[in-house]
Amino acid sequence: MKVLVIGSGGREHALAWKLAQSSRVETVYCAPGNGGTAVNVPIPATDIPALRDFALREGIGLTVVGPEAPLVEGIVDTFGEAGLRVFGPNKAAARLEGSKIFAKETMSAAGVPTADYAVFESADAALGWLHEQPADKPWVVKADGLAAGKGVLICDNRADAKAAVRQTMVAREFGSAGDRIVIEERLSGYEVSLLAICAGREFVTLAPAQDYKRIGEGDSGPNTGGMGAYSPIPTFPQELLDFAQEKVITPMLRAVDFTGVLYSGLMITPTGPSVLEFNVRFGDPETQVVLPRLETDLLDLLEAAVDRRLGAVEPRWSPRKAVTVVLASGGYPGDYAKGKPINGLDAAGTLPDVTVFHAGTKREGDRIVTNGGRVLNVTALGDTFASAIDRAYAAVGKISWEGMTFRRDIAARVRE
Ligand code: AMP
Ligand code: GLY
Repeated sequence: MKVLVIGSGGREHALAWKLAQSSRVETVYCAPGNGGTAVNVPIPATDIPALRDFALREGIGLTVVGPEAPLVEGIVDTFGEAGLRVFGPNKAAARLEGSKIFAKETMSAAGVPTADYAVFESADAALGWLHEQPADKPWVVKADGLAAGKGVLICDNRADAKAAVRQTMVAREFGSAGDRIVIEERLSGYEVSLLAICAGREFVTLAPAQDYKRIGEGDSGPNTGGMGAYSPIPTFPQELLDFAQEKVITPMLRAVDFTGVLYSGLMITPTGPSVLEFNVRFGDPETQVVLPRLETDLLDLLEAAVDRRLGAVEPRWSPRKAVTVVLASGGYPGDYAKGKPINGLDAAGTLPDVTVFHAGTKREGDRIVTNGGRVLNVTALGDTFASAIDRAYAAVGKISWEGMTFRRDIAARVRE
């Protein structure tokens, strides 16, 4: 089978890498792909008609969509109308990520635990409401629409929340994504990314993973797309998994007809798990630690979802620990330079139990240069977290480019 992976990040490299291990896969195309993916097709992830035409022309047997934007735009509907097989939710279901208000309202109606919230359509209404709230209560202000992961503002108190409302609705920093907002209670606890492959009411959960969202060590500084991850999560016991399956995933699948990955971003609070958000796709960088632990065929699993026979498959997981460290361009998540030649990729990638997934890279002749904020994801496996961490950082130590930065504390909290 020919398979097409849409997207260009580390998640897509990991998907392509795992799919290529299937004995039934002949070629994995990536559109547009990056410097690490083998067979790239120069079509942007949001050019849905061109992607459809390519898939028809090449006889693609399955398309796997990485990023949220084409899902929210309706790529699955377009491919379906053309008779193409595609893994992902349709446009209606993708609203769970495309509209935070839709997600909150669906959760409320389905009785899924989530932070208390209010919805506003104007800055005046939001500011007036905040003014009535206690001065020291912490909030989270969220733009309703897609904002490349930047539309969520974590606020320590009312004054910060008011500033966040102005940033979103007056300065319009996230454009029309901020026409409507959600203001919700800020929860505390630890976060878990729980991904489930879903088809109608059936689902299979993937191994839980933990992501590091902040740029700085000790979880300081601004949010990013993710600076590292590990899997499994030693503090996520079976009872919590059962809870998430019964109280989150099952009711959501009753409320929304969903095929694809439902990613529940959970906060494990002192009073139990609460949903922070849903994504409708694989997590990045969670995928880079989840797929290396999957011992069974990814194509089988994704096809079973598309064909609505998930009950027939059972993924098997390695007990080994996986850690990924994101190497970023200096300045990220703010402005950064591109086009810096990367050294040491071969030396790092040939270490035992190490895989270097590319994200913001591109091939220029016979060298690889930086081409984005998050550049590489260095993933390692080990029988213990200590060995996985040491292997990942040993590989990081072989790689360099001008301005490279990374967090040194990835998975440190679970080191035995
Ligand atoms: P999102 O873009 O919705 O994934 O949110 C990004 C991040 O913001 C989450 O992963 C959390 O770290 C944080 N966050 C979102 N909602 C809340 C909340 N209600 N309380 C505390 N943190 C939150
Ligand atoms: N790792 C966070 C995300 O994929 O949205």
